[in-house]
This record gives sequence, structure tokens and C-alpha cells, in this order.
Amino acid sequence: MKEQLQKIAGEAELACKNASTQEELENIRVRYLGKKGALTQVLRGMGKLSAEERPVIGKFANEVKEMLEQKIETRVRELKSLAKEMQIKKETIDVTLPGVRFIAGRKHPLTQVLDEIKHIFVTMGYSVAEGPEIELDYYNFEALNIPKNHPARDMQDSFYISDEVLLRTHTSPVQIRVYEAMAPKLPVKIIAPGKVFRRDDDATHSPMFHQVEGFLIDEHVTFGDLKGTLLTFVRKMFGADREIRLRPSYFPFTEPSAEVDISCIMCNGSGCRVCSNTGWLEILGSGMVHPRVLEMTGYDPEQVSGFAFGMGVERIAMLKYGIDDLRHLFDNDVRFLSQF
Ligand code: PHE
Repeated sequence: MKEQLQKIAGEAELACKNASTQEELENIRVRYLGKKGALTQVLRGMGKLSAEERPVIGKFANEVKEMLEQKIETRVRELKSLAKEMQIKKETIDVTLPGVRFIAGRKHPLTQVLDEIKHIFVTMGYSVAEGPEIELDYYNFEALNIPKNHPARDMQDSFYISDEVLLRTHTSPVQIRVYEAMAPKLPVKIIAPGKVFRRDDDATHSPMFHQVEGFLIDEHVTFGDLKGTLLTFVRKMFGADREIRLRPSYFPFTEPSAEVDISCIMCNGSGCRVCSNTGWLEILGSGMVHPRVLEMTGYDPEQVSGFAFGMGVERIAMLKYGIDDLRHLFDNDVRFLSQF
């Protein structure tokens, strides 16, 4: 019986060595170790053995069984790693192939312009403040010297949430919030960028747009300071050869008030289509902060004075980049946006 077992072991070992697929090995396992396998068959005959022989042959048979199991297992592993190696050899990487292009985003032109405006004023010593987009009637109008029924409210028709709460129509209410918080401290030197809302919608007006408010309160601030500040800003923003023009205007919260134009960036002042042949382009409203506004917020208009201005960011972006329709800025068309 021992010889029989040795023969089976020899055969099975050889078959294992020659097997080239996992399937073949599975067959070998069944053929020798399976229920009807050769080894199993031999073990069935153990009953006929004598009491001395049985444990000896039993032990030997078990050794053969374990050995075979191990041989099969080892060969399976060998075949697996061989297959992997072949695959790696087949899948060589062509390093000359072009890579996958990564499309990087960029800042929206409005954000770029806003960043530039902020940068210019911060380098002049201004700090940045923000106020709420949903504002009280009091801050948006009343405290800016625009009482209920004042005709100036008509220019800024808004979106009302209730009688006393609305989407702010300009960034000027931030002036009031800052004055109230700071009075009587000096100096106040702030810019306040943000979204504003009006009932307007055409090629040059959007119901939502951006403004940057600027204001400075201190002792002995003059209209000349306002003009110098704006000229500095305009030349940094639009080029050193820009001129500005101040036209008398009216805002209830400034006195005197002025509308500010820059010499046309297309024709340099000689007159063209962009400036409607005037040579000038309007960019902002401004003036000396009204004494009543100072008084209402805790400053003494006899002791301090200041100026304020408010500019439209979309308008500045359109002028700077020659954009002819404001709505391009809000369409989110990558073909347009990728130009900036
Ligand atoms: N808030 C004004 C507007 O939106 C602009 C402005 C700001 C005018 C500050 C004067 C001073 O029209």
C-alpha cells in the first residue's frame, strides 16, 4: 500500500509541475484528492490492513495528502504571478502620449476689477468694511437724509420685503453703520464693496449690480481732498493720462455733490461712439458728507468734515475691458469669461 501511495504521489507531483493553467490544477486536485480521487480510493482500503500497519500507513497517507495540497497551492500562486508579469509586459506605458489637459478656472472679470479697486484704496490707507444686502429703510434712506416721500427715492426703486426692510439700493447705508459704530473716533477711512439691487433691467442696467462706496471723515477734509483722491484712483485704474471732470449734481446725503467723469478711454476726449461724442464717461457719484448725516450719526459737523463717493463696478469693468453689454457679465459663458 505504501508503494501505491508513493506512486500516486510521484504522478501527482509531475502533473502539478506540468500544469500551465489554474483549471488544470483544479482537475489534478479532484483527480487525486477528490471524493473519488486516487488517494481517497487507496485510503478506503485501509480497513484491510493489520492493526500495526494501519497507523503507519495512515500517517504516511496524510503526509502525502498534505504534500500534494501544498504543491497545488504553490503552483497556483506561481501561475498567478506569471500571468501578472505577462500582463505588465503587455501594458507598457507610452510616455510620449500627450497628457490630459487640466482646465484651470480664473477669477470673474468683476472680481478682478473689484480686487483692483480694493487694492488701490488699501494702498492709500483705506480699510474694507461690509454691510448687509438686506437693509432697513432707516439705513438705506432715512439716515441718508432721504425721508419717506422724498422724490430722491424714485431714482432708486427697490425690492421691498416689508415696509421697513428692503434689498439695499446702494452701498451708502454702510456709511451710516460705520459712522454710528465709530463716532466720535477719527479718522474714518473706509471702502465698502458689495451687491446692490434696483428695479432696472437693460443693456446697461441689471437688477443686481456691485458698488464700491468710499468715505473719509476727519478734521479739515476738503473738496480738494475728494478731487485728489478720485484723480489718483482714476489714473491708477485707467492709466496715467486720464483726466477727470466734476459736474455739479445732487444727492440728499452730500453737499455739495458732484458726478465724476473720466476722459473717454476710447478717443481720449475728442468724441466717439462710446462717449456719445462728449469726450467724457461718467463713473461715479460723490460729494461732501452732509452735515445732517454727520450729526445724526454722532459727529459734530462744526468739528469734522468728510467726503464720500460711490462707483458702479460693472460700469468700470465695461469701460476698462470695452464690454458693450452688461448682461455678458452675468451669462456665465466661458467663451466670454476666458478672455479676461
Ligand atoms: N449712493 C449713490 C448712488 O448709488 C452714489 C453716491 C455715493 C453719491 C456716495 C454720493 C456719495 O447713486
